[in-house]
Amino acid sequence: RNALALLGGDPRRRPRVTDRPDDPAGFAAMREEVADDHRRPRYHLAAPAGWLNDPNGIIEHEGTYHVFYQYNPGGPFHGTIHWGHAASEDLVHWEDRPVALAPDPDGPDRDGVWSGCAVLDTDGTPTLVYTGGRGRDQLPCLATTDDPSLDTWEKHGDNPVISAPGDHVDLDLLETEDWRAEFRDHNVWREGETWYHLVGAGVADTGGAALLYRGESLREWEYVGPLLVGDWEGHGVVWECPELLDFGGKQVLHVSNYSHVEYFLGEANLDDPSFDVERRERLDYGDYYAPQSTRAEDGRVLTWAWVPEARDAEAQWHAGWSGMLTIPRELSVEGGELRQRPARELESLRGRDALVEGDVSLAAGESRVLDLTGNAYELGFDARVEDGGTGTLELGLFESPAGNERTVVRYDGEAVTVDRTDSALDGVPNADEQSMPVDGDALSLRAFVDGSILELYANERRCLTSRVYPTRADAEGVSIRAVGGSVELASTRAWELDAAFPARSRE
Ligand code: FRU
Repeated sequence: RNALALLGGDPRRRPRVTDRPDDPAGFAAMREEVADDHRRPRYHLAAPAGWLNDPNGIIEHEGTYHVFYQYNPGGPFHGTIHWGHAASEDLVHWEDRPVALAPDPDGPDRDGVWSGCAVLDTDGTPTLVYTGGRGRDQLPCLATTDDPSLDTWEKHGDNPVISAPGDHVDLDLLETEDWRAEFRDHNVWREGETWYHLVGAGVADTGGAALLYRGESLREWEYVGPLLVGDWEGHGVVWECPELLDFGGKQVLHVSNYSHVEYFLGEANLDDPSFDVERRERLDYGDYYAPQSTRAEDGRVLTWAWVPEARDAEAQWHAGWSGMLTIPRELSVEGGELRQRPARELESLRGRDALVEGDVSLAAGESRVLDLTGNAYELGFDARVEDGGTGTLELGLFESPAGNERTVVRYDGEAVTVDRTDSALDGVPNADEQSMPVDGDALSLRAFVDGSILELYANERRCLTSRVYPTRADAEGVSIRAVGGSVELASTRAWELDAAFPARSRE
C-alpha cells in the first residue's frame, strides 16, 4: 500500500495482487491481464504477475519438471518472498501451480522463504532445503511432501536444521574475528552414504565463501569448512546461491556475487575442503543472476537463472510484473572447457514458417532487412568479418519502423557487444554496453528474442543476456549490416517461437 501511495500512477496499470495464491485459474486471469504488454516474454518463464527472482528447487520428478521461484504475489517488488511454482512435462510448455511455500508469521521464515533446492530423501520423499529469513537471521529450513504433484508442502517441525554459523564455523579459517556475515541459499546432493550441502556466505573483512556441510540425514549437519573463499579482489563480498556441478572428473562451482555470476572449473575436494581452480570466468556477461540446475533423467545438466529487470522500480510497478527466467541451458564440460547450449526441447516451440536466408554476403556499408515479424523468435547464423578486424557485423533488433529505436548487437571478430544506447526512445535502461569475448575467427550465434529479453549464445561457449525495453509495440524490425569491411553469414535461419503458458496467446 505504501508503495502504491508513493508511486501513484495509472490505476489501470496497478499490479494485480492475488488473494488466492493457491488458485491456478486466478493465475491464468492475471496472465491475461498483462498479455497485451509487448515487453512481456512469451516463451520465457515469468510469474503470472508480481515479482520473481531466483529459480529454486528445480527437480524432475516422476516425469514432470518443477521450477519453483522466489515470488512476491503482493506486487512487483522484492518483499514477503514466497515460493512460486511452475510445472512442465516437456520443458517448454508450463503450467502455474499453487504457491508452494509462504512465510509463517511465527516461524523461522517469518520475513521470507528465500532460496534453496529440492532433493529426494533416501526414502524418496521430495524435500526442499531453503533459507528462512527472520530479521537479520538466515536459517536453513526443510519442507517435505507426499503429494506427487509437489503442490502442497509441510515444513519440518524442528526448523532450522543448522544453527547460526557464529556457533560452529571456525572463524580462524575465514580470517575473521567475529561472525558478521550473510549465510543463505542451499545446494544439497548425495554421494555414497553421505549428504553434502553448500551454503552461500559473505564474511566481513574476508569476502564471499561457499561453506561445506556434511550429514547422514537431511536433518543433521556437520560443518566441514569453506570449499572456496573469494578473498581476492573483484570477487565480491558475498557469495549467494553457490552450486557445485559434477562433470565426471571435473567440477564447476558457480556463485552469484551481488554483481554477476562467476564460475570456477577445476577439482573439488570434499574431504579436506578445497577447490583447485583451473579456470574461472563469468557464466553470462549480461543481466543474469542466481542460476540453479537440475540433472535430467537422461543425464543432462539443465540450468535456469533469474533475468532481473534493467529498468527502475517505478517502471516495474507500472508494468505489474518484474523478472523472468532464462530458457533452460544445457551445461557440459568438453575438452576442459565449459559449454552452454539452449536445451534442444526449445526446438519444439518453433513455428512452421522458418525464415531461411542461408548464406548472405554483405560488402562494407551494405545492409539487409530480414523478413521476420513478431518479437518472440530465435535467430541464428555463422558469421565471419573481414580479416584484420576491419569489418564489423551489426545486427539490429527491436527496430522501430522509423529506425530510430533499435538495439544493436555488434561482432567485430573479437567480441559480441550489445549496445542499448538507442534501445528505447525514453532512455530505459541507461546506455550501458554489455560485451562478451569470442575466441577463434568466427562466430556461431544463436539469439533468443522475447518481448524485453535478448539471450545470446556464442559458439556454444559464452552467453550474454540483456534486457531491453522498446517503447513501441511495433519495434520488431531485424536487420544486418556490414560496417568498415565485408561480412559473410552462413546458415542464417529464424523461427517464431510459441508461448510457454497456454493462457498467453498473442496474435
Ligand atoms: C539472490 C538472493 C538470495 C536469497 C534470495 C532472496 O538473488 O538474494 O541470496 O536467498 O535472493 O529473495
